[in-house]
Amino acid sequence: MKARSRFEMNHLWKIFFPLSLLLYLSGNVKSQVNPSVCRSPLGMSGRQILDEDISASSQWSESTAAKYGRLDSEEGDGAWCPESTIEPENMNEFLQIDLRSLHFITLVGTQGRHAGGIGNEFAQTYKIKYSRDGSRWISWRNRQGKEVIEGNRNAYDIVLKDLEPPIIARFVRFMPVIDHSMNVCMRVELYGCEWLDGLVSYNAPLGQEMILHDQEVYLNDSVYDGAILYSMTEGLGQLTDGMCGLDDFVLSHVYNVWPGYDYVGWTNESFPNGYVEIMFEFDRTRNFTTMKVHCNNMFSQRVKVFQKVVCYFRSDLDWESTPVSFSPVMDDVNPSARFVTVSLQNHMASAIKCQYYFSDMWMMFSEITFQSDTAMYNTTLAPRKTGAPPNTQPGDNPVHKVDDSNTRILIGCLVAIIFILVAIIVIILWRQVWQKVLEKVSRRMLDDELTASLSIQSEAFSCNNNLTSSAPSEQESSSTYERIFPLGADYQEPSRLVRKLPDVSQVSEDTASKSPQSSTQEGVPHYAEADIVNLQGVTGGNTYAVPAVTMDLLSGKDIPIEEFPRKLFTFKEKLGEGQFGEVHLCEAEDMEEFMDKDFSFDVSENQTVLVAVKMLRADANKNARNDFLKEIKIMSRLKDPNIIRLLGVCMSSDPLCMITEYMENGDLNQFLSRHEPEGMIALLSNAPTVSYSNLQHMATQIASGMKYLSSLNFVHRDLATRNCLVGKNYTIKIADFGMSRNLYSGDYYRIQGRAVLPIRWMSWESILLGKFTTASDVWAFGVTLWETLTFCKEQPYSQLSDEQVIENTGEFFRDQRRQIYLPQPHMCPDPIYKLMLSCWHRNAKERPSFQEIHRILLENTP
Ligand SMILES: *[C@@H]1O[C@H](CO)[C@@H](O)[C@H](O)[C@H]1NC(C)=O
Ligand SMILES: *[C@@H]1O[C@H](CO)[C@@H](O)[C@H](O)[C@H]1NC(C)=O
Ligand SMILES: *[C@@H]1O[C@H](CO)[C@@H](O)[C@H](O)[C@H]1NC(C)=O
Ligand SMILES: *[C@@H]1O[C@H](CO)[C@@H](O)[C@H](O)[C@H]1NC(C)=O
Repeated sequence: MKARSRFEMNHLWKIFFPLSLLLYLSGNVKSQVNPSVCRSPLGMSGRQILDEDISASSQWSESTAAKYGRLDSEEGDGAWCPESTIEPENMNEFLQIDLRSLHFITLVGTQGRHAGGIGNEFAQTYKIKYSRDGSRWISWRNRQGKEVIEGNRNAYDIVLKDLEPPIIARFVRFMPVIDHSMNVCMRVELYGCEWLDGLVSYNAPLGQEMILHDQEVYLNDSVYDGAILYSMTEGLGQLTDGMCGLDDFVLSHVYNVWPGYDYVGWTNESFPNGYVEIMFEFDRTRNFTTMKVHCNNMFSQRVKVFQKVVCYFRSDLDWESTPVSFSPVMDDVNPSARFVTVSLQNHMASAIKCQYYFSDMWMMFSEITFQSDTAMYNTTLAPRKTGAPPNTQPGDNPVHKVDDSNTRILIGCLVAIIFILVAIIVIILWRQVWQKVLEKVSRRMLDDELTASLSIQSEAFSCNNNLTSSAPSEQESSSTYERIFPLGADYQEPSRLVRKLPDVSQVSEDTASKSPQSSTQEGVPHYAEADIVNLQGVTGGNTYAVPAVTMDLLSGKDIPIEEFPRKLFTFKEKLGEGQFGEVHLCEAEDMEEFMDKDFSFDVSENQTVLVAVKMLRADANKNARNDFLKEIKIMSRLKDPNIIRLLGVCMSSDPLCMITEYMENGDLNQFLSRHEPEGMIALLSNAPTVSYSNLQHMATQIASGMKYLSSLNFVHRDLATRNCLVGKNYTIKIADFGMSRNLYSGDYYRIQGRAVLPIRWMSWESILLGKFTTASDVWAFGVTLWETLTFCKEQPYSQLSDEQVIENTGEFFRDQRRQIYLPQPHMCPDPIYKLMLSCWHRNAKERPSFQEIHRILLENTP
């Protein structure tokens, strides 16, 4: 009994322990706005904004009316031009856009009047005003308080400016500003997305000032756009700017601002009632599901998540008498900032008033978001072409989220840290281990197993050692299987690491002379950048890495698979996308008549089935097409109840597509995240449960699918719960969509030409030596099993940063008992944990095979 309640506490603790920042960066947020994704053109150039919604203070002539102020459009006389010359002392001319509903606006674009060379008017500087209700207008200021924005320098180029902080508004005005008298004309565009939170304002007590080690930490809401007097009223600010604070509240994402910038904070000294009350007003009555509060939890500085929150709801004019209250479990262990999710239990309201109770001296929030109705933010990018201005400088293209400067800075730091670590590891390897045990190591690890491919290509491809040596051309075919993982929470970028291990490749050349490629290709990828990306383009990665010999078997011209009529599919949702293609979830009708007899479907009553359709964009290059065909051939060979099947293809016309199964319950990670172990928590929260025996049943099926793959010498390389799909009755099929999906990959960040890998699932030799074998799949299976038994409530090694994970890899290599293993999950019986540990054996040969794993799991069935 005692043990059980401890488990529940621990479990709860984990629920409120999200890796919020990391997930946030990865784009894994559907329920709150993500400024780096929310950058689609709102419809000036694309005409979704109607002429009648564009107005202006004045116009020079009919042909330069407001409606001609559309970016990239040459209609009328080529732009909006105000009536009078704009004098410095008279700067009240404006071009106004009504977006009809609240939008989150992250970027603006401006252009002058070119009119095919006749025009030469443009705004060198301008200001922006905005309004949510059409009556109160607010001047936009950047984070340093500056209002004026640098505009155009000629009449034709488009200039894009990030709005930092972003604007939440329905109406936006562009107001040209000049310091000498001249004619000005403008064409404009707004970029962003709809503001689904619907929040119009929040009223809160002023943020306070903290003295920490003689340093002043300003916890005021520095971008609040309402009235600031004794309290803040009628505005929005830092709590809705889409930017989450760092774990250490003194630091900030934004440079050149004061300590504490990211947070709004209060001390209990000023609140005798013990709580801070914040009132939220919304655009209309909404049906609220949750509120997420991003809180600091640096308890060492007396800052903690709120102890309790009580929320009152106002639907018409009256406040409802029944509040919702919620107490998160206090966390004195993990000092990271996190989102606390508060269920608002489907209350209908147009205003919400919440009292957040102090649990320590300080309480600090950086974001508060509301989820209502069923609205969800798009996490995918707008298609490349929509309104993307042609003349933008590379750093300015709004549809490439890569350009988000904050992300850039963060990623820059991350990469820098990784490099430093890499250097440290290299030195340590060199000094402590290498010289001493060179002999031993080279025998133990580098003999028959070590494929020569220690340069960057090696990590792209994996094959069984014996096949490697027999097929010298296989590096060629393998390079087309290069897979570029977008950087995200689950994938990390260690390729530099691999390249920076010259010692290893040196040895490999000496000992493994059967691998001539490594010397010529060391550090210099032999493929063009375009080739690297193409498989990522189609599906985010190829399906399975395949030994060369197997490829030979597949080299026949025919594709042994049924052609499908395209019209059978009904689009449901986009699962993922890459540069050269997309993966869609579709419904298909009457599939059975196309299917093999030996295949039974997960068919629902109305005879439609869910399928994943991977499509190659029509403009994909030849290499991408070839890879696509290869992938089809490989996939068509895989026939196992626990492996996703290729059902058909559409090859007769563009876009080429392949149709694979999809399962009704989505992937195992999401499936388990929605569920709870059987027990008190599930009873209390009424959450759906999965029993231990079903968990083990699922794990057994994964082992069975992997047993099949390994029997064909296929190496999966990305086994994880996110790549397992769940069907009826807990059936599992292994797939490989993981890295193409935004949910797991933060698709928007892509380091071209560099692999980004799922380091938390990877064996030490995969990370350090770039070696992928069935034994490294076994390692990943151990991690997958661990995820399954912890209900995917946290990432593996969530307490370690990516750098520390790589460091830990070095410990596995050194084997001085300093390596950290994943802990035994609470519901995991000892024999199963023993099995997990054996998957992480340092010596790959001592890890169990999938046959053994499958047998052990069956034997231990509860
Ligand atoms: C999401 O994308 C769809 C289709 O592109 C669009 O209709 C919808 O308005 C978008 N939603 C938001 C919140 O931007
Ligand atoms: C917040 O505090 C900083 C530092 O004292 C100050 O410069 C800034 O004006 C304050 N902002 C507001 C909105 O009060
Ligand atoms: C609010 O939404 C939930 C879930 O969608 C629904 O069950 C409930 O009936 C809605 N409440 C109202 C008052 O519409
Ligand atoms: C503020 O919180 C601290 C720590 O919980 C407590 O010791 C102190 O008495 C509180 N102060 C007030 C005024 O409530």
